[in-house]
Amino acid sequence: MSATASLAAPRPAFDAARVRRDFPILEQRVNGRPLVYLDSAASGQRPLPVLRAVERYETHCHANVHRGVHALSQAATEAFEGARERVRRFINAASVREIVFVRGTTEAINLVAQSFGRPRLAPGEEILITALEHHANIVPWQMVCEQTGATLKVAPIDRRGELVLDRFLELLSPRTRVVAVAQVSNALGTVLPVKQITDAAHARGAVVLIDGAQAIPHSRIDVRELGCDFYAFSGHKLYGPTGIGVLYGREELLAAMPPWQGGGDMIRTVSFEKTTYNDLPWKFEAGTPNISGAVGLAAAMDYVKDLGLAAIAGHEQRLLELATAGLARIAGIRIIGTAVRKASVLSFTMEGCHPHDLGTILDAEGVAIRTGHHCAMPVMTFFDIPATARASFGCYNTEEDVEALLAALAKAREVFG
Ligand code: ALA
Repeated sequence: MSATASLAAPRPAFDAARVRRDFPILEQRVNGRPLVYLDSAASGQRPLPVLRAVERYETHCHANVHRGVHALSQAATEAFEGARERVRRFINAASVREIVFVRGTTEAINLVAQSFGRPRLAPGEEILITALEHHANIVPWQMVCEQTGATLKVAPIDRRGELVLDRFLELLSPRTRVVAVAQVSNALGTVLPVKQITDAAHARGAVVLIDGAQAIPHSRIDVRELGCDFYAFSGHKLYGPTGIGVLYGREELLAAMPPWQGGGDMIRTVSFEKTTYNDLPWKFEAGTPNISGAVGLAAAMDYVKDLGLAAIAGHEQRLLELATAGLARIAGIRIIGTAVRKASVLSFTMEGCHPHDLGTILDAEGVAIRTGHHCAMPVMTFFDIPATARASFGCYNTEEDVEALLAALAKAREVFG
């Protein structure tokens, strides 16, 4: 088929049942029921191409990277640095020097707080976050405030779980040095207007970090289009391995930042008198990296690109709408987070039933959801609840999964009267 013809052809409907077959873990039964996995916001499952890429690497290519002249070390280095280039393309960074491999989003944010923030921040200067942040985008900034005397400012959310943009803009001041915001709230599903936030922050001279942990599996990310200075995400939310993540940083900023952790690989020369540091991005990668993790992450990126991120997002949006409408029909359910723009997360409570009990009942039905504060305790405090039950969707979820969730909730409703 010619390129023109294929562009003109209607896109086939997203075939989640077929996608599901790529994820062997989903074939199992839990408590005698087919597994219905609705906890992808906590961690996505891995498809066969990721499992195979990791196995292939571990079976045939593993050695330590960068330091070896032997063939295996060169193969490992090629696999690792090749993965970096695939990450660069996936988020459209300008250079591989802007792609730092880290353990995950949390480590990426700590790196920026300590290496960018700590040497620069002074008493009277401010870091601006929002009230819906994950602890990983709160605590590192609180720590750097304690270390430097800077102040943490928090832009409020409203009862729907949306950022109050006017207040955010008012809180942006000439004292604001860093703005750090989630692109998608893990507890509420709210999608934040990160482009608008970035532009406004830049107009005030602040540097912007986006916590993309919950956004990366659901939308095409183009860091140059967003214009952000730092973008952080984890591999395991994107159907890749755990223990690998990415910090994107604009080269100019990374180049001016001191290393964060010291050790092998991040140096050029070491003597007892003076150590000089490696080039970007290795300056920020002390010690042996998670090589197979990077290989798996690159395979995960290829996998979602093949499925089409827009197609995945459209499918998940349909599931979210279906589940939201279904929950509204069950007595005593309160949805926490009713923003106009949401991505793939459905948090709720059921009157008369603690979320943990709800989670246990659903588990007995084979339905895996997450219950608790979701590492966003200030969000729970805002809504005056101890916890929520949270269903979250991935590319492998089907309408049958939503029906199973609703049936299990109806059963719980009967148990709790
Ligand atoms: N941050 C992960 C979640 O939202 C663990 O569940």
